Amino acid sequence: MKFLITAGPTREPIDPVRYISNRSSGKMGYAIAQAALDAGHEVILISGPVALPAPERAQMIRVTTADEMYDAVHANLAGIDIAVLCAAVADFKPAAFAPRKIKKREGVPVIELVPTRDILASLGALETKNFLLAGFAAETDDLEKNAREKLEKKQCDVVIANDVSAPGLGFESNENELTFFLPDQSSRVLPRATKRDLAAGLVKMLCALK
Ligand code: PMT
Repeated sequence: MKFLITAGPTREPIDPVRYISNRSSGKMGYAIAQAALDAGHEVILISGPVALPAPERAQMIRVTTADEMYDAVHANLAGIDIAVLCAAVADFKPAAFAPRKIKKREGVPVIELVPTRDILASLGALETKNFLLAGFAAETDDLEKNAREKLEKKQCDVVIANDVSAPGLGFESNENELTFFLPDQSSRVLPRATKRDLAAGLVKMLCALK
């Protein structure tokens, strides 16, 4: 099978030295890419800026902003069987980019934000789509309610939720716990384990759903 996987954060520039981003390290997405490769699948890995080595044999596409990730995903859909959107894409970006460093002496700037394009929702809305669409949900509260809302609104085949407020799980850590929410109202938990072990289970589950 051919996987398209997004991983890591995006960076939305404010001026040449500052940006808006988040705590994603890329560990979860890169572990999924590695697990898919280990299981003999083909992988296109579209990654925001992270400090991880590229998995050998993955087709790597490096991007910085949410707009670049959106364009890279849409340019690489041909022949994809399973899309896993694990990246922590910024939901907002500055409305304008200041071409020169904003000077402190000019006072505290007011930065207007505008929404980024939602990559997952844009894939869910495609009229012809032959691939299984797996979204992630990073939640701090009401995990099931919020994940099911994303499943429906973004028209996914499965949403994989993680609690990013639990110490030692979610962002940056080596461990995680994943709950799969499916449109038939069922759910399945992969209990706390290393991201590497969870990724192997996730790849098996997604292949079974496809
Ligand atoms: O990278 P790590 O440090 O290992 O951390 C892993 C993780 C916590 C980042 C990962 O497991 C995770 O939860 N990834 C999704 C993070 C996220 O942005 O969740 P969300 O609930 O805000 O978004 C829901 C879904 O919409 C996600 O599939 C996201 O990729 C997608 N999205 C969001 C905004 C946007 N503009 N485009 C999108 O495609």
